[in-house]
Amino acid sequence: MDPTVIKTTPFAGQRPGTSGLRKKVRVFAQPHYLENFVQSIFDTQPELAGGTLVVGGDGRYYNREAIQIILRMAAANGVARVLVGQGGILSTPAVSCLIRKYHTQGGIVLSASHNPGGPDEDFGIKFNGATGGPASESVTEAMYERTQTIDRYLTLDCPDTDLDQLGTVQIGAMEVQVIDPVADYAALMESLFDFAAIKALFNSGGFRLGFDAMHAVTGPYAMEILENRLGAPPGTVMNGVPLPDFGGHHPDPNLAHAQELVALCQGAAGLDFGAASDGDGDRNMILGKDFFVTPSDSLAVLAANAHLMPGYKDGIRGIARSMPTSQAADRVAEAMGIECFETPTGWKFFGNLLDAGRITLCGEESFGTGSDHVREKDGLWAVLFWLNLLAVRKQSVAEIVGDHWRQFGRNYYTRHDYEAVDAQGAASLVHHLRMLFPELPGKRLGDYTVAYADDFEYTDPIDASVSSHQGLRIGLEGGARIVLRLSGTGTEGATLRVYIESYEPDPSKHQQDTQEALAPLIVIARELAQIEARTGRTEPTVIT
Ligand code: G1P
Ligand code: ZN
Repeated sequence: MDPTVIKTTPFAGQRPGTSGLRKKVRVFAQPHYLENFVQSIFDTQPELAGGTLVVGGDGRYYNREAIQIILRMAAANGVARVLVGQGGILSTPAVSCLIRKYHTQGGIVLSASHNPGGPDEDFGIKFNGATGGPASESVTEAMYERTQTIDRYLTLDCPDTDLDQLGTVQIGAMEVQVIDPVADYAALMESLFDFAAIKALFNSGGFRLGFDAMHAVTGPYAMEILENRLGAPPGTVMNGVPLPDFGGHHPDPNLAHAQELVALCQGAAGLDFGAASDGDGDRNMILGKDFFVTPSDSLAVLAANAHLMPGYKDGIRGIARSMPTSQAADRVAEAMGIECFETPTGWKFFGNLLDAGRITLCGEESFGTGSDHVREKDGLWAVLFWLNLLAVRKQSVAEIVGDHWRQFGRNYYTRHDYEAVDAQGAASLVHHLRMLFPELPGKRLGDYTVAYADDFEYTDPIDASVSSHQGLRIGLEGGARIVLRLSGTGTEGATLRVYIESYEPDPSKHQQDTQEALAPLIVIARELAQIEARTGRTEPTVIT
């Protein structure tokens, strides 16, 4: 079967953001739009010809259509073999796991992560390379450049592939293996954690848990691992069937969007443990009874306790966190005498450190935690880590975190998002702050003194590549910080993220409400950045 060459012209704006190319479905569905981007992947990744590619997505609207397009184009571009998840389903961490396990040349993930799905909502596409991690900035830039000059793409004239039937089929000379999306991932989890101990915890009587899959991709994974393999009671997995529109909700595991689960964890009769994951399964939220674990604290707690897990029993080599993530993990690293890295926002910046063996654990404040077992953040992995921890330490979530604070001090932390603000106003705010920076160090802001103010720039310790303009940092004496940056994943206007942190070493002051504890810093940030004047907003859209 000969490839068909289709003439095309470039689309503006196909530059991948923090995590791949994300646009509205109707943008992706216009003729040639997805095709141009996919061809740019094949044109810039020559090793895919003759190689193996993993393909799958989070089941959102347009997932199946996109997979059919990609399969035809992969065959036309000489890919030898594709592994595709049954029903087109693969979580982001499962794609990473498959790429690594089967030594494929890469993978394509179809997802817009935690953004809503549906005909009027978001879609996305992301390429992961042979390490299993998101493509580096130089690779995504090369793809973007290609999209700006593209004049043709290759496809095959052939019928749709049956994605629901496990087994192997041919498209031209290319073999397509429709695989169980869960099996390899579940086996990896079983190799890292003490399933017998978790099973015993579930059987001990009195321990109650809930997992909210938010009608997104982790439903089948959580069902197999938590209910089938670990014996959690039926019904533990809530909203477990992936739906193209995620049931009309935001598949975003945070206090604003996982309210049903939050409510179940409250009060004397509340669940002992609650967890949720996002659209593509790489995020996690951890709750105890009447207790929310901030993702920054979660990373620090996991790091301090990693040696209790079978997969990490020899200890961890180093930790990395994204710049806006709280500095709680830094204190653990310091106490353990291991390296701690501060990277720009986005999982791709952890890849080199993981590949070089400099770090074992990494995480972001945005509900992302992971380790060197794959090259993506991993929602269910974090959930299993916590369950294993509860089983071993025989304490509640709140007790474990409370002990951690007593040992290391508490980093009060919050993120205020101003979503869909006017892009020009947001840009002017950033510009205004940058202009203030030279005169800030040494200045008093309320009760605080500015230690430093800079535009975060990162030099990768492994390949020396430099990433500039990664967010504005205002460091205050005593460990408090204000960080501002614009989102790189939004699809409407601009989203301003304001990250606020303070450090409290005194255990008698560890029980304050987070927003109250941070109130003076919140006011300072609003005034300094002139948020109301430049965005017209008096309050954030989402507080986490
Ligand atoms: C957001 C998060 C970031 C995460 C990314 C992909 O990006 O803040 O930590 O890596 O989603 O899940 P942002 O919209 O802030 O650019
Ligand atoms: Zn995600």
